[in-house]
Amino acid sequence: MALGEATLCIIGILCVGHMYISYMFMYLLYQGYYNSNIQSGSYKEDSSYPLLCYFALDHDWPDTGGLHPAMNATLCSHMIFISSITQDCKLAPADPNDVTKYYNKISLLRKLNPNLKIMISNGGGNFSQVLANYENRTRFVNSIIPFLQKFDFDGLDIDWEFFGWNGLPRQQRENFTYLMQDLRTTFDEKEASSGRHYILSAAVAAGRAVMEIYDVPALQKSIDFINLMCYDFYSYALYDPVTNYNSPLYANDWQKKIVIRGGNIGWSTNEWYKRGMPKHKIMVGIPTYTHTWTLEFPDKYNGLYAPATGPGSGCDECTYAWVCEKLRSKDTTNVWDNDASVPYFYYGNQWVSYDNEKSLKLKSEWIIENGFGGIMVYSLNNDDINGTSCGQGKFPLIDTIKKTIVNHNNHL
Ligand SMILES: *[C@@H]1O[C@H](CO)[C@@H](O)[C@H](O)[C@H]1NC(C)=O
Ligand SMILES: *[C@@H]1O[C@H](CO)[C@@H](O)[C@H](O)[C@H]1NC(C)=O
Ligand SMILES: *[C@@H]1O[C@H](CO)[C@@H](O)[C@H](O)[C@H]1NC(C)=O
Ligand SMILES: *[C@@H]1O[C@H](CO)[C@@H](O)[C@H](O)[C@H]1NC(C)=O
Ligand SMILES: *[C@@H]1O[C@H](CO)[C@@H](O)[C@H](O)[C@H]1NC(C)=O
Repeated sequence: MALGEATLCIIGILCVGHMYISYMFMYLLYQGYYNSNIQSGSYKEDSSYPLLCYFALDHDWPDTGGLHPAMNATLCSHMIFISSITQDCKLAPADPNDVTKYYNKISLLRKLNPNLKIMISNGGGNFSQVLANYENRTRFVNSIIPFLQKFDFDGLDIDWEFFGWNGLPRQQRENFTYLMQDLRTTFDEKEASSGRHYILSAAVAAGRAVMEIYDVPALQKSIDFINLMCYDFYSYALYDPVTNYNSPLYANDWQKKIVIRGGNIGWSTNEWYKRGMPKHKIMVGIPTYTHTWTLEFPDKYNGLYAPATGPGSGCDECTYAWVCEKLRSKDTTNVWDNDASVPYFYYGNQWVSYDNEKSLKLKSEWIIENGFGGIMVYSLNNDDINGTSCGQGKFPLIDTIKKTIVNHNNHL
């Protein structure tokens, strides 16, 4: 594949003028290669195409006895609770109140939708301690099934951002592989004795550099699927102080011209596939939230790659409800980028990268048509949960994704 990549670059550079055509040609070749290598059909938990939705446990929410307004039991095939911690290397609730506010409502969710799969994500806590030796890994592994059984979860999602990275020892990579293998063995033993299949997934990075931490061929044997986080490709950073997109589907035109690969959904999904993750095990993650920038020269530069002095003045990861309120203002200019297949808007010195019904419909169609196993959304909480801001009912974004899936199924 390395040779293939090099060829792609050389043809890309040599064929200036015909570059777009050469890209199209190579893309089609690659597509043919991918498609001939798909081993089996889409990941199936039930008969429909998976739509996995993260739900962030809201510690400020005053329990009203019912469900939190962002918990919609019927929109998604899977609801993944974020997050939990490790205590003494064992899985534990992040907050003791999570049990009454959220875990104990699983029975209510199941009544509303008996097909819903409900998982717990583990993100918080010191995963370096868990990875540090066999004893600590075993302690973690042995704590999982009792925890899932106690609260009636259907599975575990590991979201450790990021082991073996940013100063943490590189050797954590192989210990993560051992940990996932031991979890698989334990889950398989449980299934053999009880008949219940517990799901094991991992939330993984889409960026080129961080991707190196995963031993993909080994990981793919242990997990049911990955939740590929195809967002946060760009947000304000001191070392990258220009506007850009949170979750572009394709490279924009400028990136194509200088042959930068990466930084978009198309590249990341196919890169995971090339590295050995079967397509049906790749759940492609798309966002309902924004990233925001404060423009340095708003009168001169207010498009893509405009100089910025920091994140936006209000929120950075803002909800779609917030987006709809801003878009109603006369001072707001809304732009669609056809190359990247995402919108942005600006007002005053504020610049916002976001997703709307159009971009999420196009992304969903692309994910289904390219043979990936399912769609993941981050998150339920960031949609217009009350339906009061966008004027299109509750959860207009995730509902658009769901309708795109249903519409596709009807045309098979
Ligand atoms: C193993 O886990 C315990 C907590 O259960 C922790 O105190 C200890 O430091 C860990 N070992 C290593 C080598 O990190
Ligand atoms: C996490 O555990 C590692 C290894 O035991 C230790 O070196 C580190 O200080 C811990 N980090 C925190 C934030 O407690
Ligand atoms: C990985 O685990 C082994 C024991 O299986 C341990 O000796 C090693 O120190 C661990 N490496 C890291 C980086 O935690
Ligand atoms: C949604 O409604 C709840 C009351 O059910 C309220 O507490 C919350 O602030 C509302 N959220 C938004 C974003 O409008
Ligand atoms: C769940 O979402 C659907 C689709 O938008 C909506 O019709 C329904 O009212 C929502 N249910 C709840 C409890 O919010």
